[in-house]
Amino acid sequence: MNKFLEAMRFRHACKIFDENKKIDEDKFLDILESGRLSPSSMGMEPTRFIVIENKRLKEELKPLCWDQIQITSAAKVVVLKTIIQSLIPPSNYVDSISFRRGKTKQEREAWIQRYGNFLESMQAKGINVENWGQKQAYIAASSMMNCAAYMGIDSCPIEGI
Ligand SMILES: Cc1cc2nc3c(=O)[nH]c(=O)nc-3n(C[C@H](O)[C@H](O)[C@H](O)COP(=O)(O)O)c2cc1C
Repeated sequence: MNKFLEAMRFRHACKIFDENKKIDEDKFLDILESGRLSPSSMGMEPTRFIVIENKRLKEELKPLCWDQIQITSAAKVVVLKTIIQSLIPPSNYVDSISFRRGKTKQEREAWIQRYGNFLESMQAKGINVENWGQKQAYIAASSMMNCAAYMGIDSCPIEGI
């Protein structure tokens, strides 16, 4: 059978994790890498991954997540965060990404202009930078859950936060 589809069939939203099971560090790094390698609109890579494994921190987080038991039973909790302010030009971050888009100053400035226009067109459709960034995070989350499933590791997306 196609191994990717096999992983997709294995994947399910796990409701409680076995606390005796740990994730091998190299496998966990592969999961994070699948998130890092995920596509993002305009190549802006706006998602950052915060890994929480400290028991006390997980306990503090749980009430903020509708008391869902996955937060404390999971070996690793990965919080996806969007660097919203940095995405809005002018910013050092936008400048740094522009270096991948143009060799000359003129090319880079033209790209930043196009990017700014794109953000404005999104805004006109009612999609603000927060919404736009969130979409990119969901793509990364999907990659990570599928990568975990490929290695036989359970996961659960948590939007209840
Ligand atoms: C964006 C998103 C947020 C979700 N949030 C939660 C959540 O907070 N708690 C939970 O138990 N499941 C959550 N789920 C899991 C869905 O309920 C689950 O994927 C759906 O019922 C289908 O079941 P399956 O994933 O086992 O196939 C979420 C799923 C998605 C895609």
